[in-house]
Amino acid sequence: MLDLRTLILAAGKGTRMKSRKAKVLHRVGGASLVEHVLATAKVLSADVSIVIGHQADDVGALIPEGKFVEQKEQLGTGHAVIMASDHFAGYAGEILILPGDVPLISSQTLEKFVEFHRGGAYVASVLTADIENPFGYGRIVRGNSTDLQSIVEHKDATPEIREIREINSSIYVFSGPQLFEALSKVKNTNAQSEYYLTDVVEILVAQNRKVGAFKVADASEILGINTRSELANVDRIMRLRKCELLMAEGVTIIDPASTFIDSAVRIGADTVIYPSVQIYGRSIIGEDVTIHSFSRISNSRIGSRSTVLDGCVVVDSSLGEDVSVGPYAHLRMETKLEDTVKIGNCVEIKKSTLGAGTKSMHLTYLGDATIGKNCNIGAGTITCNYDGFTKNPTLIEDDVFIGSDSQLIAPVKVGKGAYVGAGSSITDDVPPESLAIARGRQVVKEGWVRDRKKK
Ligand code: UD1
Ligand code: CA
Repeated sequence: MLDLRTLILAAGKGTRMKSRKAKVLHRVGGASLVEHVLATAKVLSADVSIVIGHQADDVGALIPEGKFVEQKEQLGTGHAVIMASDHFAGYAGEILILPGDVPLISSQTLEKFVEFHRGGAYVASVLTADIENPFGYGRIVRGNSTDLQSIVEHKDATPEIREIREINSSIYVFSGPQLFEALSKVKNTNAQSEYYLTDVVEILVAQNRKVGAFKVADASEILGINTRSELANVDRIMRLRKCELLMAEGVTIIDPASTFIDSAVRIGADTVIYPSVQIYGRSIIGEDVTIHSFSRISNSRIGSRSTVLDGCVVVDSSLGEDVSVGPYAHLRMETKLEDTVKIGNCVEIKKSTLGAGTKSMHLTYLGDATIGKNCNIGAGTITCNYDGFTKNPTLIEDDVFIGSDSQLIAPVKVGKGAYVGAGSSITDDVPPESLAIARGRQVVKEGWVRDRKKK
């Protein structure tokens, strides 16, 4: 932890996103932009507050534990900081300022930046980077002595200044009192009629204060997001970083470029992820698991040595160890598969528990069912759980055999060890160890076809 306070600027609308949603609420790597920045800030700083304005309620709801400052009208980044002056009243220490739209910034880089600020005894420091395409960014103007002179916004820059490739990341450390003193002098006479925080640099330089500029080694860390295209680019970088981390921990990812894994996901060693897999939210995957292509796993647990075959959707579910699922299975709403369960082609399971060793291999719907151990659920079985008003439970005890193409009309119970004949419509409970058959008896009319042809 560093002895300083942090302010995150997240009140802007993000006009260039062309969205009804405030920019900082857009998501990359499984979390909103502001959540990423906040998580990084909290590594360094015990006192983090966030300036909110556009869709303040939604940002507040997303971060219930957050400390907020409201900026009702978004009159610029300088104005946003002024709105927080009450929060910093009487505070003589340093303030780290982070924009809400730079989710790739790392706490390590920020730490080095603060070290630079303190080492140089600056009253203000700016984190900068050289980038290929500086379009849209504020440019770092250095004097003859290479000292920082001013920051000029793209929209206000002359063609000559637009040639400069060193840009302002919008990340700063300020000495609190000097910052607010300088801010009181900032005017909005610029292309956007906004109160720019960047103007503070020129004001402090004119007062002969020491202002530092610290250039990051990896420019991708300070990429700001203003457009959907930049959102996609940062998401791609974040995804690749997550894959790199997982590979370093022993996970095989066959094609990182087509693999989407959210930052919070945990995966054990020797797990193999095939191309075009998506793993989202707070999913936890064990060791030696195999996940085949085109499967999407969200907020679910998968135990070690399990296999998810191609094209499965697994949402809010929990799979034990040595389980096999798919291809083309859909598990949702707290489905629980105990160890060694096998689920096959085109099986949908909702809010159900399947005991260890149970198999349901083909074309089946199991909803609101509690199924014991070592059962065999035949092809095409359907639990008819919905009567048009309520969802009803099906209970299948251990060692039950449900013949193919059966319907279990819930509420209904099949006792331990019982058999249901193929093609049955089961409306009444089946006692343990018994056979239930509920279908029309077969009628054979010998020679019927031959006789018909004669007529
Ligand atoms: C800003 C910098 C620019 C820098 C760039 C880096 C200024 C004037 N310009 O430009 O030099 O290169 O970031 O990404 O500071 N915000 C508020 N209230 C406002 C306006 C903005 O809270 O009234 C917040 C936004 O929500 C956003 C951040 O401040 O998180 C930056 O605002 P944005 O409009 O994206 O600034 P840029 O034009 O990108
Ligand atoms: Ca920006």
